[in-house]
Amino acid sequence: MPSAESRPAPALVRLRDVHLSFGASPVLKGIDLDVFRGQAVTIIGPSGSGKSTILRCITGLLRPQRGTIEVDGTRADLLSSERDEIELRKRVGFVFQQYNLFPHLSVLDNLVVAPVRILGRDKASAKRTAYELLEKVRLADKAHAYPGQLSGGQQQRVAIARALAMQPDLILFDEVTSALDPETVGEVLTVIRELVRDGMTCVLVTHEMRFAEEVSDAVYFTESGVIVEHGPANRVFHAPANPRTREFLARATDPAQRAQHAQGRADRAAARTALPLELRNFAI
Ligand SMILES: Nc1ncnc2c1ncn2[C@@H]1O[C@H](COP(=O)(O)OP(=O)(O)OP(=O)(O)O)[C@@H](O)[C@H]1O
Ligand SMILES: [Mg+2]
Repeated sequence: MPSAESRPAPALVRLRDVHLSFGASPVLKGIDLDVFRGQAVTIIGPSGSGKSTILRCITGLLRPQRGTIEVDGTRADLLSSERDEIELRKRVGFVFQQYNLFPHLSVLDNLVVAPVRILGRDKASAKRTAYELLEKVRLADKAHAYPGQLSGGQQQRVAIARALAMQPDLILFDEVTSALDPETVGEVLTVIRELVRDGMTCVLVTHEMRFAEEVSDAVYFTESGVIVEHGPANRVFHAPANPRTREFLARATDPAQRAQHAQGRADRAAARTALPLELRNFAI
């Protein structure tokens, strides 16, 4: 029998045979995915392949028709009350393409409101933590600004700090640089890179292939609701075993195609304005 030290730790996030349909459309067709504590796992794949749907399953927002989803031992596919949903969402941070900061609150208050209201932290200590986190994302000087006064890259860094303020077990990043001007993408990637280096467990959906290769421990390639291939980032990017992965990577790294897709993503992002359901209980 292996000793406690040599026994592998269970995955923090574990999906097995997850099937999910919207009406008659099957969107996830048997997803298996593992994220271990401290890992950065990236999901890549064409538009509509189910990447965001996988992330929303991990938050408990979407329930699969078949399969199991475990997040640190909690069955996210079986939550039966709003209280359990909130409990899970406290532990799983989510950063969106469209930042979704609360526009009527200052940057500082964006970071303070949920820890006070949802975690019951006292306001003074929540503020102290908020300042530390703003320091970490290099925006301490913007504590009293409002989201509308910040650049896209600055707003996205506030959104990351807001997720961190809840001290989550893991953070999901869904195309968080897709709506940004190219010159602010780097500052957001730097913040994520530092989080990964600090050991934060992260699941990323991104079109920044070089960044994905650099930060990820494991990469999953999805197409039409299935995981076509997964493995260590270096292997998947440099020696993909499946021809579909090879084809996708060739297209994803072609500069002309990249520009065209980036514009499409920015347009789709601009069209989405509603507050994501993930923030439903955290908003005021
Ligand atoms: N709430 C919903 N109702 C019906 N269909 C949905 C819903 N959400 C997603 N879909 C469909 O499920 C499929 C997968 O969507 P998903 O958003 O997971 O794709 P994605 O890989 O994240 O794509 P993108 O790269 O464009 O963000 C798509 O065909 C999409 O239209
Ligand atoms: Mg998506």
